[in-house]
Amino acid sequence: MTKLSVNINKIATLRNARGGNNPDVLKVALDCERFGAEGITVHPRPDERHIRRSDVYALRPAISTEFNIEGYPSQEFIDLVLKVKPHQVTLVPDAPDQLTSNAGWDTKTHFSFLSDLMETFSNAGIRTSIFVGTDKELIEYAAKTGADRVELYTEPYATLYPENPEEAIAPFVEAAKLVRSLGMGLNAGHDLSLENLKYMHDNIPWLDEVSIGHALICDALYLGLEKTIEEYKKCLR
Ligand code: PXP
Repeated sequence: MTKLSVNINKIATLRNARGGNNPDVLKVALDCERFGAEGITVHPRPDERHIRRSDVYALRPAISTEFNIEGYPSQEFIDLVLKVKPHQVTLVPDAPDQLTSNAGWDTKTHFSFLSDLMETFSNAGIRTSIFVGTDKELIEYAAKTGADRVELYTEPYATLYPENPEEAIAPFVEAAKLVRSLGMGLNAGHDLSLENLKYMHDNIPWLDEVSIGHALICDALYLGLEKTIEEYKKCLR
């Protein structure tokens, strides 16, 4: 079964626009779970422009599904993750001021940095995942770091999908097969939507988890959160 982890950063962005507590990030997370989400993802950034450190602390004891914290492993991020001990940490190579993640790790160049981090998080009992593209050598290096999983960066798939689904999915199927043969778990995320998710899942049914934020929250404006989560889960059956 492929788990749906809802990235709730957009909810925090909306809340932060007015300074109060509406919408309530914690309530939305709990409602996502109640409506069937199997995980909650947050991406705290140093400037706290979306999710704040205080949100991360408040969410941890409240969430009963899988809690995934993603982000760039600055010392501050590492300390936060080790304190909060989520089920999973996903390491993303973003600069602090980046709008959103737009590439996977160069796991060859950053091999020793990532290997040390995998050891640190594993020793703390936290499952590890590294955000990567479909390059085979870089996936092999991700496996060598000791990561439990990789998360495939799916934006290139989402961009090409409307024009040529077969061509869009091909490198992801190859990468997913390699990940499986290396004995790692497999996550995917970025720009997944009601339009392109089912086709990805039909072609890579052994995905462990997809992490979805932007499109899901946009769909919820029209369909409501409960119906939206239901529709995303249908794509994963
Ligand atoms: N996975 C990672 C590593 C991300 O950085 C993001 C965006 O924060 C997502 C998944 C979710 O992407 P989207 O908001 O496009 O669904």
